[in-house]
Amino acid sequence: MSTQGTVLVIGSSGQLGAELVAGLRQIYGRENVIASDIKDMDKEQIKEFAPYETLNVLNAKRLYEIVRKYDVKQIYLLAALLSATAEKSPMFAWDLNMNGLFNVLDLAKEKHIDKVYWPSSIAVFGPTTPRINTPQFTIMEPNTVYGISKQTGERWCEYYFNKYAVDVRSLRYPGLIGWKTAPGGGTTDYAVHIYHEAIKNNSYECFLSENTTLPMMFMDDAIKATLDLMHSNPEKIKVRSSYNLAGMSFSPKEIASEIKNYFPEFQITYNPDSRQAIADSWPQSIDDSVARKEWGWKPSFDLKKMSEEMIVNLKNEIVK
Ligand code: SER
Repeated sequence: MSTQGTVLVIGSSGQLGAELVAGLRQIYGRENVIASDIKDMDKEQIKEFAPYETLNVLNAKRLYEIVRKYDVKQIYLLAALLSATAEKSPMFAWDLNMNGLFNVLDLAKEKHIDKVYWPSSIAVFGPTTPRINTPQFTIMEPNTVYGISKQTGERWCEYYFNKYAVDVRSLRYPGLIGWKTAPGGGTTDYAVHIYHEAIKNNSYECFLSENTTLPMMFMDDAIKATLDLMHSNPEKIKVRSSYNLAGMSFSPKEIASEIKNYFPEFQITYNPDSRQAIADSWPQSIDDSVARKEWGWKPSFDLKKMSEEMIVNLKNEIVK
């Protein structure tokens, strides 16, 4: 691996970052995957996550120093404000989500690194997008700060690929659900919290209404999709904005009914807040046939299989 340089994950403490670091370390070896996050860690934590660097992705100079220090050749840029948090701080979200991306894309443009992964989202779609089986190429008029930043980012990724031959790859993730790390600031986070609350309290108050169907994906599928995309032959990657990606779709009522198979007394109540409007602007299901055709994407988890994994693993964690 040393002749090919190392991999840097920016945002390694996040829901996706933590699991991606683990997945990448299995492939490349621990010392070849550098974790980085804005969070200051104490000595013990640094040891646990090492190699680890504190990094604010808006600090281009520090980012460059880390790239030089470890001979980084690939960057996974996961630091971003998600949909609900971005609505609270629009200008900061725009700054972080856009200028963080430029700092990384420019390193590739200047040939300091070879490859970039940047996540997009179903949030790039808006109220005028067809909501069922949303196609890869369709109307995109996002009306959230997060969605606007992700759509703009997609345009820039494609631009850097076309103009500067930057090898940047991207997926439009649905809501991601995993048991190892907590989500933060998203509209789809309820689908993680609901499992925790079912195990701890046998009840959950949902911030979305009962029939709000959204596209979702189990974390193992998301990690697999990301690594498969990044390891595909570049000729196969025809879409350089971002690929539609689907796992499953369900509403709060449907996930609650699945959870009741494990906890028959489980009670769900509904108290929609400002996140309802965000969810209402997004698709219900995604057509990912382009990803399937071009680089062989195929999900493994449906609601039933995911619920089993979530409940078995979370029970162990919570009982510990
Ligand atoms: N899961 C994200 C959110 O809810 C969507 O990309 O913000």
